Amino acid sequence: MTFDTVIHSGTVVTADGQFKGDIGITGGRIAAVSEVISGGKTRVDAGGRLVMPGGIEAHAHIAQESSSGVMTADDYLSGSISAAFGGNSSFIPFAAQQRGQSVDDVIATYDARGARSVLDYSYHLIISDPTPDVLNDQLPRAFKRGITSFKVFMTYDLMNLGDGGMLDILSVARDHGAITMVHAENNDMVKWMNKRLAAKGLTAPRYHAISRPQLAEEEAINRAIQLAKLVDAALFIVHVSTEGGADIVRREKFNGAKLFAETCPQYLALTRDDLDRPGMEGAKYICSPPLRGHDTQDALWHHIAHGTFESVSSDHAPYRFDDTGKFINGSDIPYPKIANGMPGIATRLPYLFSEGVVKGRITPEQFVALSATNAAKTFGCTTKGRIAPGMDADIAIWNPEAKRVVQLQDQHDNMDYSPMEGMELVGVPEVVMNRGRTIVSHGELMATEGQGQFFARAPVDLRGRSGFTAPEFDPAQNFGSDLR
Ligand code: URP
Ligand code: ZN
Ligand code: ZN
Repeated sequence: MTFDTVIHSGTVVTADGQFKGDIGITGGRIAAVSEVISGGKTRVDAGGRLVMPGGIEAHAHIAQESSSGVMTADDYLSGSISAAFGGNSSFIPFAAQQRGQSVDDVIATYDARGARSVLDYSYHLIISDPTPDVLNDQLPRAFKRGITSFKVFMTYDLMNLGDGGMLDILSVARDHGAITMVHAENNDMVKWMNKRLAAKGLTAPRYHAISRPQLAEEEAINRAIQLAKLVDAALFIVHVSTEGGADIVRREKFNGAKLFAETCPQYLALTRDDLDRPGMEGAKYICSPPLRGHDTQDALWHHIAHGTFESVSSDHAPYRFDDTGKFINGSDIPYPKIANGMPGIATRLPYLFSEGVVKGRITPEQFVALSATNAAKTFGCTTKGRIAPGMDADIAIWNPEAKRVVQLQDQHDNMDYSPMEGMELVGVPEVVMNRGRTIVSHGELMATEGQGQFFARAPVDLRGRSGFTAPEFDPAQNFGSDLR
């Protein structure tokens, strides 16, 4: 057999184990994995390093307007380049529906934006206006195109669908094998806190953390799960930031709910004290849900190590520290008017590797599962996230010993700060490939604009999730009615 490329002399790490072996690549796909592979038009010497599936970044806001209309600093070119420097071979940003906009129009808009990507990409749809036409016609059409995940919000006045709206989306998603993602925070609790803080003049960035109580997340996570269980739909809780929220996820998931979840590096690396930096510096650390305390960090690591979360995702939401981003509403403004979100697509995996694998909190196999393999399963990326014959050659070669201090210029994004600036991290993704093409090699970008391709996704993989039948939805117990 002849190969376009052979990666040799590395330690191949998958979600299930590791072995010394070589990988043969032909036509952008992995053609062979074996102890020794000779030949290959190009031979890449992994030199004893770790050869892993390239990351799949499953939570990023790229070329996307926020709920209040602020455009992210990164488009698909800078966002995908930054992702690649961070060890990712593909990503799934959000395609956001504005109220009144058709889903077909949303997809056309993001197709034009996505065309600049250097990495393969797909979208999760954000639904803010679930009209009957959207539910009955447009979402099924999007699903047929391979967009098999829909995100909804329980917070932000312009996005919050209410419980009935969520049940509508969950039911449609269930009927098509799609998964519903949810930003879970109790909107009224947050608004009530905002009012009390404003009445006392407490509007500095640090009060952002106070305004969004841990209980607001815990309540909404629990409510979202019960709504999904009522209609036995698959649910993915994004950016879990509390111990209580993670505990609920764990209990329900291991009781069989069709439940999936992620947390993010910012909740592991930073705390609400970062919001209390001098002047308006704290604005850099405003994201929702907000940063919490050190005890939460320990609890979330414990949950990561014990299988509560499918993924650790970046929630890359890049708004510059200037009047195009954080301060688009003015420079000395109360925290509710500051753009929400922080960058992190290039630091997600280096942080997880350094603080997770190097410090012994997780194994290299867990790192692979959390960074790529589980996301591929959950979001139907059938040719990505694994090293096996037939899969896309989406591969990252990591030097597990190289040390680096986080600096803005190494992020290769379009931002003017990194929230992790100055942290020393161990482990560097030195070579990143997407479908066999080298995107990044030893700090150099090798890709050209637009070479990434949109990939259609399959339905959510529900193996191992028995689901839940509410008695009221069970024809055997509800006088024979079929309410699905
Ligand atoms: O604060 C964040 N994470 N902003 C992005 C929008 C969202 O809530 O997902
Ligand atoms: Zn969110
Ligand atoms: Zn987000």
